[in-house]
Amino acid sequence: METPFIFPRAASIEAPLRLAVLISGGGSGLASLLAFQSLEPRCHRTVIVLADSRNAGGLEHGKSAGITTVGIPIPMGLESTERRLAHENMIQSQLKSSKAEVLILSGYMRIFTPSFVEKWKGRIMNIHPSMLPDFPGAHPHRDALSAGVTTTGCTVHLVDEGVDTGPILAQREVPVLEGDNEETLQERVKKVEHVLYPETIDLFCRGRLSI
Ligand code: GRF
Repeated sequence: METPFIFPRAASIEAPLRLAVLISGGGSGLASLLAFQSLEPRCHRTVIVLADSRNAGGLEHGKSAGITTVGIPIPMGLESTERRLAHENMIQSQLKSSKAEVLILSGYMRIFTPSFVEKWKGRIMNIHPSMLPDFPGAHPHRDALSAGVTTTGCTVHLVDEGVDTGPILAQREVPVLEGDNEETLQERVKKVEHVLYPETIDLFCRGRLSI
């Protein structure tokens, strides 16, 4: 039987939900969330930033906001399944010590094992830079350009055991322009992500979204 989605507790400004943000790269999405959270009292706050390496540029955004930031590289010297599980155990232990309640994947480039997802199902959110179910996977911009579409976009969804398959919470379209390459398209989509993701996280934490 499939594990059900279990949603977080009802949050309030007095008792905000504790978010862990997971990144792999430059963390422009993390920066937009931190800016959104600093604008006015919210019913969520970021309590820890985790990356899958020690040199992910985005860790700086967490540090400069005074948030605990931890880079956890993939352990070497183990067979691949054990390595994945050992890495997830280290992540889980940081999540536990920070008392995180919701995981926000923001450019986190690793796929969690089903056993990790089961522990958090209903409380892990991801943003993917395409209009899912179109162009899932690691190269959505390249795939959109090869397909010749004139519109792409971004999708916020809950994470399930599949890859970019969980229930969709929000989507926004972005035009593909004549002469676009992967970089120009990615930049245009990111600008929209930086508005859509904080807004969707906010609605979710306020209990305003259902699946
Ligand atoms: C974003 O486009 C996100 O949707 C994708 O990776 C990118 C991360 O960018 N999964 P950044 O690290 O937040 O700048």
